[in-house]
Amino acid sequence: MRFGIRTIDDFDVKDKVVICRVDINQPVDKKTGMLKSEVRIQACAPTIRELSEKGAKLVLLAHQGSDIEYKNFYTTKPHAKVLSRILGKEVQFIEDVCGPAALEKIESLKRGDILLLDNVRFLSEEQTLFEQKLCLTHEQQADTLLIRKLAPFADLYVCDAFAAAHRDQPSLCGFEQLLPSAMGRLFEKEYCVLSELMECPQRPCTFVLGGAKIADAFLMMKAVLEAGAADYILTGGLVANILLFAAGKQIGQRSLDYIYKSNYGEYISKAKEMYKKYSENIVLPVDLAYTENDLRKEVLTEEIPENAMITDIGQKTADIYQKYIKESATVFVNGPMGVFEKEATEYGTKAVWEALGDTKAYTVVGGGDSITATTKYGKTEKISYICTGGGALIRFLTGEELPVVKALRYGAHVEENHVKREEGK
Ligand code: 3PG
Repeated sequence: MRFGIRTIDDFDVKDKVVICRVDINQPVDKKTGMLKSEVRIQACAPTIRELSEKGAKLVLLAHQGSDIEYKNFYTTKPHAKVLSRILGKEVQFIEDVCGPAALEKIESLKRGDILLLDNVRFLSEEQTLFEQKLCLTHEQQADTLLIRKLAPFADLYVCDAFAAAHRDQPSLCGFEQLLPSAMGRLFEKEYCVLSELMECPQRPCTFVLGGAKIADAFLMMKAVLEAGAADYILTGGLVANILLFAAGKQIGQRSLDYIYKSNYGEYISKAKEMYKKYSENIVLPVDLAYTENDLRKEVLTEEIPENAMITDIGQKTADIYQKYIKESATVFVNGPMGVFEKEATEYGTKAVWEALGDTKAYTVVGGGDSITATTKYGKTEKISYICTGGGALIRFLTGEELPVVKALRYGAHVEENHVKREEGK
């Protein structure tokens, strides 16, 4: 047992019903119903393959989409197809999460079968707003609909969803109260690599923080600065805009309106406080880019036009960031520097990823957009470690115990299913 959590090696899963929670949340093209990336599905395939080959009757649970930061709720049906192709074996799918159709299907599973249930976040109790408003304990989560319906059918719970390990939701933290539990292979790998790395990161240790996941970014910035874990924080994206404004720089009315419209106004005062205390560690852009009629324009931060909307860091900033990355011994990256999906505004992100590919530092990249950038710029082989989690990586780096880790530690001591169905019922 490592970290007080059991692994698949601790169980004989043959002919056992195993509920396995995975994170295969991916960008979806709603028009075609196609997944735009398969990275997370590839990453958890080894656990699924192993459990199936060892004879488990495997029930997969997963979410697709979020009720807060992006709204791409969608069925997990396309995921089952992709997974079938990756595994070279049929992955059954049912358009139900824990209703009678799902239960009947689970009962019909045979040794080695794999069934993916529909998006767990179709249940309100699995949504993040519900989590944040109700703050259910793990014991209370065990009493939610999903767990009450599914747990009686299962012998074992396996969590392989490291990318969602920062969420305190029933499919992630409730089953462990009732079922013997283990982490899957991906979870095990992510947790071990990051734990070992954080025990003694080589210095200087630089964090590159960009993108638009503001709550996570500020949480992590505060934690790593207070703990003295970060020598430098290079900022880009919306994170940089908020810090620049807090530091008294102009960012253009449209960029400022966007901050307020997205309800991130409260972060301006947090940013002021943080910048005042850690201005030596927080590195802000010296120039920025915006577009006019799809053409890229660059200006120094003092010269940003009143009606501009910042969409990238400028070239001078990119040069400075490349130098920091080159001279660091450890680099953590979460979030792009700008709108890297468009040619006119990808310069900063591309430059940062070029530097990540060239540096001798140990590099860790996490989160959906950062993984997409890694693939886009052909750096998959060059990055030392690619973590499937974005928010989970950030929460891990704050040093707090992740809710799923806490639940799995509890589940390590649960010896049998406490709510097993009576045979023949
Ligand atoms: C992610 O995309 O970071 C994980 O799938 C978790 O998703 P969430 O932030 O919507 O909980």
